[in-house]
Amino acid sequence: MRKRSEEEQKLVDKAFQYLPGGTLGNTTRKQEEAFFIARGKGSRVWDVSGNEYIDYLLGSGPEFLGHAHPEIIAAVKNALEEGFTFFHTNEACIKLAEELIKAVPCAEQVRFVSSGTEADMQALRIARAFRKRDKILKFEGGYHGTSDYGWVSITHTDTPEYPHAAIPESAGIPQAVLDLLLVAPYNDLETTAAIIEKHHDELAAVIVEPVQRIIPPLPGFLEGLRDITARRRVPLIFDEVVTGFRMAYGGAQEYFHVVPDMATYGKVIGGGMPLAAVAGREEIMSVCNPFKKEKGDFVSMVGTLSGNPVAVAAGLAALEIVKRPGTYERVHATGRKLMDALKDAFNRVGIPVQVSGVEICFDVYFTDQPVRNHRDGLKADRTMLAKYNQALLNRGILKGGQKYYIGACHTDEDVQRTIEVFQEVAEELKG
Ligand SMILES: Cc1ncc(COP(=O)(O)O)c(C=O)c1O
Repeated sequence: MRKRSEEEQKLVDKAFQYLPGGTLGNTTRKQEEAFFIARGKGSRVWDVSGNEYIDYLLGSGPEFLGHAHPEIIAAVKNALEEGFTFFHTNEACIKLAEELIKAVPCAEQVRFVSSGTEADMQALRIARAFRKRDKILKFEGGYHGTSDYGWVSITHTDTPEYPHAAIPESAGIPQAVLDLLLVAPYNDLETTAAIIEKHHDELAAVIVEPVQRIIPPLPGFLEGLRDITARRRVPLIFDEVVTGFRMAYGGAQEYFHVVPDMATYGKVIGGGMPLAAVAGREEIMSVCNPFKKEKGDFVSMVGTLSGNPVAVAAGLAALEIVKRPGTYERVHATGRKLMDALKDAFNRVGIPVQVSGVEICFDVYFTDQPVRNHRDGLKADRTMLAKYNQALLNRGILKGGQKYYIGACHTDEDVQRTIEVFQEVAEELKG
């Protein structure tokens, strides 16, 4: 059980005074349950009260190599000595663009931004400018950041007919934007293809997470999506903010052998610093080129910190490390071991679960039915999920609400301890 020190109690009180809900917005915990992270090293983090956790949250993904990686620290220190940010194109960002283009099958040109939200928002705008159309097709349950276009139809529990208008995840999203979105069922190629056939002439793009949250694509789904979008000349965007440089060096498009027209990156690419990117075919990305397009006809992208050399140095160092032989094999093996152990632990006590995902990110759904899309996931028992998350936390396992991120930092000792915890938690939930 985690302890809370007096110091942390004071911080909690201040947080609830100064931050709405006592939080950055990313995690929500009641005042009596809130805790704050003080530091991280490798696969571990410590809260302000000194409790230690094996970290499967990894900063929601960027810390793939573990916290405070010495080689990333060294690269950042060097970069800092040379100045923090210039607003000007710099040497480091050209190197990173080159590296990204070498790694990613669809990438011929790149624009850097500072967050995955920004990358997705800009990718959609580029597609709208390229296609001279406004509508976007997204998949129910897919997350593409918190812009007005992205922060829709992710968690809602009603089940209207497809395609349905987007349902906002936040107050303040204009109806006019919602009217420009079509929402389709992930992993249902037939329904999706019918929607694209009917609406292709209005569509600027189709955006998809190749692995939607922790739901992997069924065989043929991404391939079919690629075929129909190519046939109808609708740009296909892979949101690789999670999968980029994590599933494989070339991301999900390398792993699944399906090449979209554009892709967005964040998390691993910044080595823990605020850095993200939009990449794509030159024909499309050239709408960002002021020398090729008239003013008013090109996508003007300006960002004070876009491609700043400190974040780029962290990103370049991270890519240099992940590229070393064996990284992806090791991460996939760790993930496979934990996925199997999770399944075994619940099977042994007779609690029906689906362990869903891919080796780099996965979790359980408390249901005896397969989970192929968001609506299947909604049928799972969320009360059990909350109890399981709390039981894990009480035993020093930190993770997202429904996601373990596996990193190159996780050790055999972490895996061993985590497997023991799975068994303890399964026993506790059996009651
Ligand atoms: C698939 C996907 N796209 C976009 C984003 C948004 O990225 P950011 O939080 O950097 O804005 C995330 C963040 O988790 C994500 O998982």
